[in-house]
Amino acid sequence: MKSTSKKISKEYSKAIKENKNIVSATGGAKFADYSTHELDSLPKGVADSSFGCGNPLASSSVKEGDIVLDLGCGTGLDLLLAAEKVGPKGKVIGVDMNEDMLKKAKENIDVSEYRNIELRKGMIESLPIESGSIDWVISNCVINLSSDKEQAFKEIARVLKPNGQIHISDIVSENMPWWVKKSGVLTAACAGATISENHYLLGLKNVGMTDCSVIERQHYEPSQLASAVVDLLPTFLTKITCCGKGLIESLLIKVASPIAKNLWSAKFSGKLSI
Ligand SMILES: C[S@@+](CC[C@H](N)C(=O)[O-])C[C@H]1O[C@@H](n2cnc3c(N)ncnc32)[C@H](O)[C@@H]1O
Repeated sequence: MKSTSKKISKEYSKAIKENKNIVSATGGAKFADYSTHELDSLPKGVADSSFGCGNPLASSSVKEGDIVLDLGCGTGLDLLLAAEKVGPKGKVIGVDMNEDMLKKAKENIDVSEYRNIELRKGMIESLPIESGSIDWVISNCVINLSSDKEQAFKEIARVLKPNGQIHISDIVSENMPWWVKKSGVLTAACAGATISENHYLLGLKNVGMTDCSVIERQHYEPSQLASAVVDLLPTFLTKITCCGKGLIESLLIKVASPIAKNLWSAKFSGKLSI
């Protein structure tokens, strides 16, 4: 594992162990395109430990019998929803580099009714998956974290069956300030290593994907971005107040304003044509 990935993995282990439910830049908006029915169907606590930025399965045509691969599955929210869609004749595979995420995902799966989910430890840049074996690749707020996105895109194309499809929710950006790109915390929070929509679409096209497009976008308020970062700060800092307001959060909202204009969540679709 490369050192950047190791650092990111450490942040996610910390978040899981300290029960911090927001690491990603998406703040409280992460459930915007999940239905109440979907969220209510999940075992208790699953939604609290999710770190996504948009439902990759929403508006997908994943069907009974399909084999779905979730890149960076985290604690398994989308695995469980995919398991319902593919049914007992289908299969869902979750890959993640982080042991603590996988442990939590296993606990969540064990208390669910689904027995068609398999977890595998691995990197999205070298997937532990047979070539040409997957109907759908889904992913939620993960590829932005990769330090070798080209290789991750190559791996997606390798594992898909001919005519296999993708639905990927991820954070994208335009002109991120240098200090956001340099920040380890903001990189782990899904902002620092983001690329633009065009760069993303080109990356997918370059590995042979066709019909690639952005099918949905979600923008964030500065306060949502700020609260995501506040959650990562030591508690004593978040308690400092001025004029009755949280000082750090007020400052962060100011800093987040120009970033909020340039960073959003996008859902990409595409197909591996033959
Ligand atoms: C923002 S969280 C999203 C988790 C999950 N998809 C969700 O929606 O809750 C990012 C996840 O991707 C995993 N991850 C990040 N980079 C990875 C990589 N290069 N290979 C495999 N997993 C990675 C992290 O361990 C973490 O579980």
